[in-house]
Amino acid sequence: MRLFKTIAGLQAELRQYWHEQSIGFVPTMGALHEGHLSLMRRAIAENEIVVVSIFINPLQFAPNEDLENYPRSREQDAQLCEELGVRVLFAPSPETMGIARAQTTIIPPPEMTSGLCSSRREGHFQGVATIVTKLFNLVRPTRAYFGEKDAQQLAIIRRLVADLNIPVEIRPCPTVREASGLACSSRNQYLTPEQEENATVLFRSLEAARGSFQKGERNAQTLMTAAKTELQTVPEIELEYLELVDPQTLIPLNSIETSGLLAIAARVGTTRLIDNIQLRDR
Ligand code: PAJ
Repeated sequence: MRLFKTIAGLQAELRQYWHEQSIGFVPTMGALHEGHLSLMRRAIAENEIVVVSIFINPLQFAPNEDLENYPRSREQDAQLCEELGVRVLFAPSPETMGIARAQTTIIPPPEMTSGLCSSRREGHFQGVATIVTKLFNLVRPTRAYFGEKDAQQLAIIRRLVADLNIPVEIRPCPTVREASGLACSSRNQYLTPEQEENATVLFRSLEAARGSFQKGERNAQTLMTAAKTELQTVPEIELEYLELVDPQTLIPLNSIETSGLLAIAARVGTTRLIDNIQLRDR
């Protein structure tokens, strides 16, 4: 594996692959866990070369968020990538990525950033869309891998790629969970053992709605009530939102015709966690 911190170094290496070989790309912010590794394994299986980026993107953190404290484990991350068979690791600094300079911003469609995480994370998805566009232009991957765990991000990136004709294939990957059902997240490191136990109610509440869906329920309010009833069994959890939206457009649904994305965000202590499931007819 080769590690590059500069754009010139990265591109000198990638030049030999661009026209000859397929490049799989996994953008991350580091603190790698099983969720990230599942994306990398898939990329390795489907491409000749795999590039992973680790960049804690200041553009997607609001001033009150955890940019300074976001978990960092560079050496362990590099080792994990190497062991898996990643060919190129790109770990630029904010200066290299031109963060202070870059004022051109990608603004996702307003209807995709009016609900879910957007209301509490102003500017977040502009920051994500802008950095992902920059990374795509630098790496020029054949395929790029994103987790369904961040469903709003995935939908926005698919739309970005379609609307701006970016020549990359977006590959969605299923959410990886702990045995307890808790979705793997770099932010799980902030949780005490007791909070981690409490956090498992997020997935249980989504599963409660799924149970109701499988019995034939299609009404959004009824499905969300099933989730909320389960959520209330753990009063320590502070619900931020629970929404049922169209998985592609993210527009809220009154009832499920073919498929729905049920997404939740909640605080456990000071840690903000998100999760979601798709409800669809088989
Ligand atoms: P990060 O949170 O590090 O996540 C990197 C990728 O891993 C994303 O595509 C995310 O959806 C995926 N991922 C995280 N947890 C997962 C899980 N439990 N199961 C499956 N996939 C999971 O998302 C970002 O970084 C940033 O916003 C980024 C896209 C890198 C832009 O800065």
